[in-house]
Amino acid sequence: MAGNETPAAAAVNYNDRVVLQFTIMTLVWAVVGMGVGVFIAAELIWPGLSMNLPWLSYGRLRPLHTNAVIFAFGGSALIGTSYWVVQRTCQTRLVFDKLAAFTFWGWQAVIVGAAISLPLGYTQAKEYAELEWPLDLLIALVWVSYAVVFFGTIMRRKTPHIYVANWFYGSFILTVAILHIVNSAAIPVSLTKSYSAYGGAVDAMVQWWYGHNAVGFFLTAGFLGMMYYFIPKQVGKPIYSYRLSIVHFWALISIYMWAGPHHLHYTALPDWVQSLGMVFSLILLAPSWGGMINGIMTLSGAWHKLRTDPIIKFLIVSLSFYGMSTFEGPMMSIKTVNALSHYTDWTIGHVHSGALGWVGMITMGSLYVLIPRLVNRESMYSTRLIEIHFWLTTLGVVLYIAAMWVAGVMQGLMWRATDENGILVYSFIESLNATYPFYAVRLAGGVLYLTGILVMVYNSYKTLMGAPAIDLPQPDQPPAPNASTAEVQT
Ligand code: HEM
Ligand code: HEM
Repeated sequence: MAGNETPAAAAVNYNDRVVLQFTIMTLVWAVVGMGVGVFIAAELIWPGLSMNLPWLSYGRLRPLHTNAVIFAFGGSALIGTSYWVVQRTCQTRLVFDKLAAFTFWGWQAVIVGAAISLPLGYTQAKEYAELEWPLDLLIALVWVSYAVVFFGTIMRRKTPHIYVANWFYGSFILTVAILHIVNSAAIPVSLTKSYSAYGGAVDAMVQWWYGHNAVGFFLTAGFLGMMYYFIPKQVGKPIYSYRLSIVHFWALISIYMWAGPHHLHYTALPDWVQSLGMVFSLILLAPSWGGMINGIMTLSGAWHKLRTDPIIKFLIVSLSFYGMSTFEGPMMSIKTVNALSHYTDWTIGHVHSGALGWVGMITMGSLYVLIPRLVNRESMYSTRLIEIHFWLTTLGVVLYIAAMWVAGVMQGLMWRATDENGILVYSFIESLNATYPFYAVRLAGGVLYLTGILVMVYNSYKTLMGAPAIDLPQPDQPPAPNASTAEVQT
């Protein structure tokens, strides 16, 4: 079972300081990154909010949002949890304390660098790889150090095998290193300006090979590592099928690499490359759902825990969103569907069903398991607050993604509508006007989601400061033998 600490493991003097540091910063960056998300969502309704200040303009804050949520929030969560998981599952302390500390401070320095340089307008203009070359060099240095600490710890393990969560974390670390180094190759012309080493369609292909695998390995494989440790841990049962997890791993990592061209349909990229990307994207549905089923089925025989444990709700609902976005993605990769969805808010809905639903919720569920353990306590300060957070989050995601789906399909249909003479029926501005109500619903969803994060921050603060639990989790009672089937399955 994941992290099933034996007496020998309990005696290990783990390095939990660096895990605590990353955990705290995950919460800080969640507030900042999603706060900026809410602000830019509001700017799309009221552009005047930028007050004509360049560094508050939508174009500069949007990449700040994506960098802050993916690399600051997501990255801190991934590095922090991977350090916890690798130590527990290998029953050994992290190697090289100072290097581990460097990965923490180095990563935070990169983020602060991004938070300053992006609003000032310094960018390589490559999505999710905007940072200029000095910061790119720092990222490469931190990432190689992270790889040394992680794989060094695995090499020093006291256990005979390498638990599957580490396979996922390991593939995330290795792949992100390769993606970052290849895609960031550039010729600097000054401290703040550089030009990509690639040109034209090759540049686009390299960028979306990077971009899609950033989704596949940063936003997926790493978080699957989290899933494979924290779900069995919280449910108190081993993962449903260890064999399926191995098939899931190899299938996922070998297929993801080829799907990038689906971001470049109907472009100057050779047609066969676009079709190849589409076919691999469709195949990707199978391993993605295999992983989702493996996680959800870990609850079999313990479904009743969903009634009483809001942490398990977070973890399981995150997998439902994972299933939803990995069904939707392959559909959007079909060229004829992409002809409708591309450039519309449908893409934004897809992104956030993965980002808010999957990445956000698996992280929150995992941190709720982790935070009390970091300070050696049984539970969080308040289980009721976790429940409230769960409902704020769920409602927030649903409002956000439903609004964007409807808006996206509407935009796509309006843009392609022609009359009997073949003349466009709607002007672009008409489609924009029709979108405003949906932007308002999205903003409401974002505000709910962010409020949930603030509730979590308060609950975590009280837990870390040692405040006694105010509402201990209800005892986890299996259903009575004579309970009806419907009741058992709730
Ligand atoms: C309170 C929560 C959030 C709000 C209100 C929010 C809002 C937004 C907005 C308004 C955009 C720009 C959409 C556009 O240009 O039309 C955006 C883009 C984006 N957001 Fe969020 N966001 C939130 C959370 C997150 C999280 C947690 C993640 C990732 C873990 C994320 C990842 C992204 C990405 C990748 C894009 C770019 C999408 C694309 O280019 O297709 N967001 N977000
Ligand atoms: C089987 C899995 C998936 C497939 C095949 C897939 C496919 C796609 C497709 C076809 C697009 C639209 C490209 C375009 O029209 O420009 C897209 C966009 C995107 N997807 Fe997915 N997706 C998958 C899963 C996910 C997940 C789980 C996440 C997040 C956690 C995610 C995040 C994104 C992002 C951030 C974009 C926007 C990229 C951009 O243009 O900036 N995807 N995906």
